[in-house]
This record gives sequence, C-alpha cells and structure tokens, in this order.
Amino acid sequence: MLLMKQHTQHTQHIPIKHTKMGKVDRIEENKVRKRVTYPSRKTREEAFEREIFWLNKLKDTGIIIELLSYERKDDQLIIYSKYYGKAVTNETLPDDWEEQRDHIIKILRENNCRHNDIKPGEILINKEEKIALCDFGFAWDLDKPNPPHWPNRLGLSFRPPQEMGFGYESDLYSFNKVIKESCGVSPKKRNL
Ligand SMILES: Nc1ncnc2c1ncn2[C@@H]1O[C@H](COP(=O)(O)OP(=O)(O)O)[C@@H](O)[C@H]1O
Ligand SMILES: [Mg+2]
Repeated sequence: MLLMKQHTQHTQHIPIKHTKMGKVDRIEENKVRKRVTYPSRKTREEAFEREIFWLNKLKDTGIIIELLSYERKDDQLIIYSKYYGKAVTNETLPDDWEEQRDHIIKILRENNCRHNDIKPGEILINKEEKIALCDFGFAWDLDKPNPPHWPNRLGLSFRPPQEMGFGYESDLYSFNKVIKESCGVSPKKRNL
C-alpha cells in the first residue's frame, strides 16, 4: 500500500491538450499519451492510422517525436510517444532554426510527406536545442492533393493560401508563419 502511494506520488500526469478531437497528457516523465477522440468514428480511425503510419515511416530521421506504442482499448484509440520537449518560443528558438527547418522540410520531401497541420504546438524543441515535429494525424502523401472530405478548418490560421497548392511549400509556409507568430521572428531569406 505504502509502495503504491509512493509510486503515485512520483508519477507525473500533466494534461497537455484536451479538446473534443483528442486528449493529450504527459503521463510519465518521458511518456505522452494521446487519445484520438474525433466525434466521427471514420475521422478518428483514419487520423489514428495516419499518425502511426507517418511516425513509423519517419522514425529514424530525427525530425519527429518517437512513437513508443499504440493500442485500441474498448473504443479508445491511444498513441504513446516519448516526451520530446515544449513547443518552441521566442526564448527557446535556436539561432540555427532556419537550417533546422530546411532540414525538416528536406526530410519530409524525401519521404513524400506533407505534414499539413503545422501549428504553434507542433514545433517542439528539446534540451539539445533540436527541433522536431509532432501530430501527423493529417499528414498525407506529398505527391497527392489532400482528400476533399477533410475538415475545412484544418490548420486554418497557419495554412497557406489556396493557390500555393499541395507542394512542400505549404509546410514551409506554415512553419515560417508559426515561428513569426510564436517567436516574433521572420526568416532572414525570403524563401517563399
Ligand atoms: N511526444 C511529445 N512530446 C512533447 N509534447 C508533445 C508530444 N506529443 C504531443 N505533444 C504536445 O501535445 C500537443 C497536442 O498533441 P497533438 O499530437 O498535436 O494532438 P492534437 O491532434 O489533439 O492536436 C502538441 O501540440 C504538443 O505540444
Ligand atoms: Mg496538434
């Protein structure tokens, strides 16, 4: 009994983001639990499958969070990842963020991946000042347009103008916009 109590006291369980689309909690020092809870069963099944697919595909690239495991429990779809770090801010933005960004975009291109939903929470930074992306629930093949039935609010404030289409430039645009908004910093070179 005493042992159990001690264990509970030492286990962190910090809510990170709770919405009707998903609940994300840091359940241990190094473990994040994401419960995918989109109201529509089809949407949540597909987002769950896509996230696992891309986290696996990109797993050795060093540009994403690490997938630990996943499970279906009753009606719940749960993804466990290794805690990476906080979302980048003006205080934590590294000097070489543009090189890191270009590397991330290059790796996404090489893996035929468009993230599609880069928002402020999705650009994380660890203690070694290395940037990584999370949330691949709406990532898609770079050489294909997004499915027409997807939610039209997807990444709304950070998504590129429609005329930009579905090339790698759209992730680059969102990345720059997030850094501008969360850190107040613009790219040195205008690369778009
Ligand atoms: N492995 C992780 N390490 C650190 N933070 C994470 C990790 N996974 C998710 N987060 C944080 O939790 C937030 C919500 O997770 P996310 O996968 O984006 O869920 P949602 O699909 O609900 O937006 C992210 O924006 C990010 O800030
Ligand atoms: Mg997200």
